[in-house]
Amino acid sequence: MARTLSIEPLAIEPLAGTSFGAVVTGVKVTALDDATWRELYAAWLKYALLIFPDQHLKRDEQIAFAKRFGPLEFEMAAISNVKADGSLRIEADNDDVMKILKGNMGWHCDSTYMPVQAKGAVFSAEVVPSIGGRTGFADMRAAWDALDGTLKARIETLAAHHSLHHSQSKLGHQTKKKDGEYSGYGLHDGPVPLRQLVKVHPETGRKSLLIGRHAHNIPGLDKAESERLLQELVDFACQPPRIYHHDWTAGDAVVWDNRCLLHQATPWDMTQPRVMWHSRIAGDPTSEAALH
Ligand code: OGA
Ligand code: MN
Repeated sequence: MARTLSIEPLAIEPLAGTSFGAVVTGVKVTALDDATWRELYAAWLKYALLIFPDQHLKRDEQIAFAKRFGPLEFEMAAISNVKADGSLRIEADNDDVMKILKGNMGWHCDSTYMPVQAKGAVFSAEVVPSIGGRTGFADMRAAWDALDGTLKARIETLAAHHSLHHSQSKLGHQTKKKDGEYSGYGLHDGPVPLRQLVKVHPETGRKSLLIGRHAHNIPGLDKAESERLLQELVDFACQPPRIYHHDWTAGDAVVWDNRCLLHQATPWDMTQPRVMWHSRIAGDPTSEAALH
């Protein structure tokens, strides 16, 4: 089928100065024929982050695009400091949603605290602040590749527990799960997932570091040693040329591979609205399930 709906040809432009990421133009993600879709999916596996300017996706369009990557963990969640009634959340109130927005500012991988970690996410910007509020991404494939052999050998056999209770309480955020407007997603009780520090990508076979703020308590290490190692790994991993911070323009959409990237929000002036939409693509239980 011809790409009848694109005026310009599809162009995939790798980000400059990074190990990952590409900007895709000349395409409307709501109107991808099969050949273009296959090309895009292959580019997604290669670059791990695709950025699509000027998409202005409607809810149904975003969900439909996300579903091309696989079944969804959830269809569409607002990541926003604007309440349902249109008023702004007050930063100093530090309500449960604000705690989650602040928590997102630490490097993390989505849903590693769930039994099955996410495959990825389609994320789009509807309203953006005039300054700040960028989203950072970090390439954990390149981070693994850059580690020295001794450290590689040491961590290859290690695993860590992942929990949102852990990461939120480290910030002094005792998010309650029943009060407030936050759904409590991720704040379940019960077994804490254990995940290997080195993840093999199910589709590319590349190794990457599986770390970030939800990871803690490595079996076999004492607490302080575990904490130190995990922090050391994040500090090393999340540095140029392995990071990219996207400065949003309203209408942008991205899709990231949560099996090999970390991401983080960055601060903005919360007297300004920021409205982002997140469609979470479910991981494959055969490759994204926790060890137990
Ligand atoms: C998320 C997330 C970062 C941001 O939606 O999972 O971490 O920039 N968002 O809002
Ligand atoms: Mn996230």
